[in-house]
Amino acid sequence: MNPVPQAIAVLDFGSQYSQLITRRVREMQVYCELFPWNADPQKVLHIQPKGFILSGGPSSVYEKDAPFIPAYILESGLPVLGICYGMQSLAQALGGEVEPAGGREYGLAEIQTVASNPLIQQNSLQVWMSHGDRVRKVPEGFVVLAYSSHSPVAAMGDDSRRYYGLQFHPEVRHTQDGQEILKHFVLDICQVKPEWTPQSMIEQSIAAIQAQVGQEKVLSAVSGGVDSSVATALVLQAAGSQLDAVFVDTGLLREGEPRQVETAFKRSLGARLHVLDASREFFSKLAGVTEPEEKRRIIGETFIRTFEAQARLIGKPPFLVQGTIYPDVVESSAPDRSQAQRIKSHHNVGGLPPDLDFKLVEPLRYLFKDEVRAVGEALGLPRELVWRQPFPGPGLAVRCLGEVTPQRVEILRKADAIFTGELAEAGLLFQKETAAGVSQAFAVLLPVRSVGVMGDQRTYQETVALRAVTTEDFMTADWARLDHALLAKAANRIVNEVSGVNRVVYDITSKPPATIEWE
Ligand code: XMP
Repeated sequence: MNPVPQAIAVLDFGSQYSQLITRRVREMQVYCELFPWNADPQKVLHIQPKGFILSGGPSSVYEKDAPFIPAYILESGLPVLGICYGMQSLAQALGGEVEPAGGREYGLAEIQTVASNPLIQQNSLQVWMSHGDRVRKVPEGFVVLAYSSHSPVAAMGDDSRRYYGLQFHPEVRHTQDGQEILKHFVLDICQVKPEWTPQSMIEQSIAAIQAQVGQEKVLSAVSGGVDSSVATALVLQAAGSQLDAVFVDTGLLREGEPRQVETAFKRSLGARLHVLDASREFFSKLAGVTEPEEKRRIIGETFIRTFEAQARLIGKPPFLVQGTIYPDVVESSAPDRSQAQRIKSHHNVGGLPPDLDFKLVEPLRYLFKDEVRAVGEALGLPRELVWRQPFPGPGLAVRCLGEVTPQRVEILRKADAIFTGELAEAGLLFQKETAAGVSQAFAVLLPVRSVGVMGDQRTYQETVALRAVTTEDFMTADWARLDHALLAKAANRIVNEVSGVNRVVYDITSKPPATIEWE
């Protein structure tokens, strides 16, 4: 698929920032894809790039088996920007010299510009460095554009061939005006038109879905989460009456969620939505189970069986919609990047097992999360759905420590609604609203009873823990420094309004060593 005619290709030499480069280009409304450095050239050229960006990487150009610039890049006649290792490999490929920097240069550095050039317009800049080697001599045709105290060549360029190299990382926010530098490369040097807008994403996606499914029937599982909702809304636009959407109410959802999904899809978008109330089935399977992994296994299994039964009733459509997004695709194409150890077995509504035997429709496969949200808004999905915080597939079960009973889940649901309601009131709940907002916030019910006193009466009841974190990627997280008055109000309301709870605590552990969810 070539989503738009104007694109940039990023070649990945293994930097932790490679995906970030791709995101930064997309932020300019320019389509961009990340490819392994040794990807099949046909695949890279298929997107018809107007320029290449070479990422950084952990190797040294002189190491045996070090990644190198494939010949087709330099033969293409297109502009090339090498970042860090990308610059070093560009220098080496064209006859320059690279040497060990005599220790790693890591962190902020100041560069001085020494030649006027189309990339860096400032005389000096604070930039983010992270490298062990450096370019000692630029290749013929290049000039040194900037230097730092550690790097005699902090930037180099050859205007006639439109080849540029930066020793620092413009994609990292710490680099002053980094996005400006990238913009000069993409918009001025490669002359790409910024046409990658939500509307163009929708148009491309609709055309691709129609070409894939033809007149055949399509099935989708909506969870209320952002990805499955946007994917389903796109297929609905593309294949309308061919789509059957299924929503399984597990009984483990947040307050108001089933109704919200039904309103959004059935009433507003006119989808053929089958709402299955399977809560009894889920609670009966979970009875007596307290072990977290066992809960996850049971819920995953019960979900699949419920979904399968409904699919048979509908007549087993050949296509299934999945809300896979671009970061998942990138992670799975680079196995060494994925976390080796399994901490929790994740269950996703989108992650149905392959033995269900559907052909997959993945309309979000090339989109980052913020693009998914922009498309969702453009499609008219409600704001609460589009800007919703992540919610685990197994739902409230993994926040209800101990046995998962309808009564305990109800207590948890009420406490959660109070806490998140207070956060929403303070403008902190939806990520869009403010940078000060929390990334994820929820209540947890603990199977711990303690003594309390209410109206002169002794109580002996369970405990609610409140959890709120800030994070960029959910791999690491810090606990949110919430205002004490907000915490006090939430705690007070929970104890007063939710019967069965007489104590509220706030979780002040970061991840690691804790995880975000409690199970
Ligand atoms: P942890 O608890 O591992 O969570 O720090 C990291 C992020 O993943 C979410 N999470 C899940 N998401 N299915 C999901 O779709 C799951 O089984 C699952 N378990 C955890 C969690 O809410 C947090 O955002």
